[in-house]
Amino acid sequence: MNHPASGALQARAEEINALVSRLGAPAWVRHRRLLEWVDSIASLTRPARIHWCDGSEAEYDRLCEQMVAAGTLRRLNPEKRPNSYLAWSDPGDVARVEDRTYICSENRDDAGPTNNWVDPAEMRATLDGLFDGCMAGRTLYVIPFSMGPIGSHISHVGVELSDSPYVAVSMKLMTRMGKAVYDVLGHDGGFVPCVHSVGKPLAAGEKDVPWPCNPTKYIVHYPETREIWSFGSGYGGNALLGKKCFALRIASNMGRQDVQAGGIGWLAEHMLILGVTSPEGRKYHVAAAFPSACGKTNFAMLIPPKGFEGWKVTTIGDDIAWIKPHSDGRLYAINPEAGYFGVAPGTNEKTNRNCMASLHANTIFTNVALTDDGDVWWEGMSEPPAHLIDWQGRDWTPEDGKAGRKAAHPNARFTVAATQNPAIDADWDSVDGVAIDAFIFGGRRSTTVPLVTQARDWVEGVYMAATMGSETTAAQAGATGVVRRDPFAMLPFCGYNMADYFSHWLDLGNRMQAGGAKLPAIFCVNWFRTDENGKFVWPGFGENMRVLKWMIDRIEARAGGVEHVFGFTPRYEDLHWDGLGFPAESFAKITSIDKAAWEQEFALHAELFEKLAQRLPEDLLEVKAKLEARLAA
Ligand code: GTP
Ligand code: SPV
Ligand code: MN
Repeated sequence: MNHPASGALQARAEEINALVSRLGAPAWVRHRRLLEWVDSIASLTRPARIHWCDGSEAEYDRLCEQMVAAGTLRRLNPEKRPNSYLAWSDPGDVARVEDRTYICSENRDDAGPTNNWVDPAEMRATLDGLFDGCMAGRTLYVIPFSMGPIGSHISHVGVELSDSPYVAVSMKLMTRMGKAVYDVLGHDGGFVPCVHSVGKPLAAGEKDVPWPCNPTKYIVHYPETREIWSFGSGYGGNALLGKKCFALRIASNMGRQDVQAGGIGWLAEHMLILGVTSPEGRKYHVAAAFPSACGKTNFAMLIPPKGFEGWKVTTIGDDIAWIKPHSDGRLYAINPEAGYFGVAPGTNEKTNRNCMASLHANTIFTNVALTDDGDVWWEGMSEPPAHLIDWQGRDWTPEDGKAGRKAAHPNARFTVAATQNPAIDADWDSVDGVAIDAFIFGGRRSTTVPLVTQARDWVEGVYMAATMGSETTAAQAGATGVVRRDPFAMLPFCGYNMADYFSHWLDLGNRMQAGGAKLPAIFCVNWFRTDENGKFVWPGFGENMRVLKWMIDRIEARAGGVEHVFGFTPRYEDLHWDGLGFPAESFAKITSIDKAAWEQEFALHAELFEKLAQRLPEDLLEVKAKLEARLAA
């Protein structure tokens, strides 16, 4: 008997089979919407072939070999750096491009004054033009990934379609990538579609370049439909779309949309997460937001210095945190990533031994220098060798260094799996995450901002985070060393109106407090005050442990401190100084509050607030008035 419904079912099955065979999809992919989407992107971009990534080691090795043959990767000396590679990018493709990054919400005000915005219909038309045939001659990689432990209730799945094998292998190191993701997706599970092209189609017979890219770049987000489209760059956050595009810009939207859907809401933050265990065996968890290239990886892998015997710091994450209220009334955080894309320059055995150990093997380096014995080098790693090949393939000697030519690009990076970190936290992969005891916010400020302060309450903490300034670094294209407001270290990463984001933080705090929750303490730090010679006064790195311990003592209501304009601050005698000769005069220098400098600082806060005036929460204006009154008193 032929029932009408079974006829329809059979027709559907035949359609799927046709799609599967046209796309060469493996047996483990039977998600209809995914197949249709891949089909539509393939019809638009017209790649020569499709590769369905399974995430296996064999696949990783094969793609790396292929890139070695193509000149994209160079295999490093296996005795010095086993199973590791070096990539040199196009000199025009070395960092995130913030001025080419767009939040295309339906309504301009929902993107807000700090984001670039174009009407989504107009942007779709532009991108349709750019993506038309853009993968010609290349392979389209279908890259399924989970942000967060596979199967965790906090995790979310994405699928990136990219014509870059460098992206495919990087996603393997940076995320849980591969076949297992399809088990989560099943036939109809939700995923964030991410489309990426380096934007360099190959004509028939055209020889490829080692690092294909396009001078025209677009990094585009549609928050309502939760889509990401990236064109023209193969580098870092522009191209590894699980990272900034998904785990911050789209996820920050998801965390707020959760409230509109009746949930309590959650946070997607540019934060490291670390565990710190005292000699008595008490463990605390801290999440810290510092802007790009301002010390997250270093702080997350901190090695307690002399004088802190018995203390232990462990890494949950080094760049991104997804933070949710838990049934016990506390905030829990997971690291959605599974690898580190970290800044190489400045990293050495002294500043970050754990990081150096992580990089001993199985690492992809990008834009560092090559030594004569087939290893890597960057500024700040060690005394410069007598000869190197720099990141642009040119000869380099220490003389060139003295003349100001860097051997490694200042935003040179390593890509490595988190499991290589000797200080990885036992709970880094836990499906529930870890309970957060404190939030830290810190910018890179050579003046004005003191070493550490504790906000008096949540609202004051939100104010301090919202008005944070920081000097720009090489992590973004454009001028470096320019002080700009970088609220919550999220200026380039908040996927919606920054004023609404402030409200989201305030409201979440209110909702949790109304439910009887004790919120994490909020601290502000600045490791980067300089002296008259432009030298950092605070030794930083492992020595930041002294500040971290003071914070823990504050949480336990053990530590001293005095109230000042911005909350509580330690006196010299409130920090544990064993093992470090740091004079009280230097401490005074980096904790002093200069009235005139802070009057100027408040003028910059006012400028930010004027920019965000339309939706700025009243509470923040009240805090500002109170702080200004304290400063004037
Ligand atoms: P993104 O990956 O761009 O988000 O950056 P990040 O915040 O993880 O930065 P990272 O830890 O890689 O630090 C970048 C630079 O800051 C490196 O050059 C470090 O040497 C320097 N740095 C890190 N911690 C400290 C510190 O405590 N003091 C000083 N003076 N410099 C630091
Ligand atoms: C940052 O710039 O904050 C990074 C590097 O973490 S990237 O992934 O390129 O955005
Ligand atoms: Mn970052």
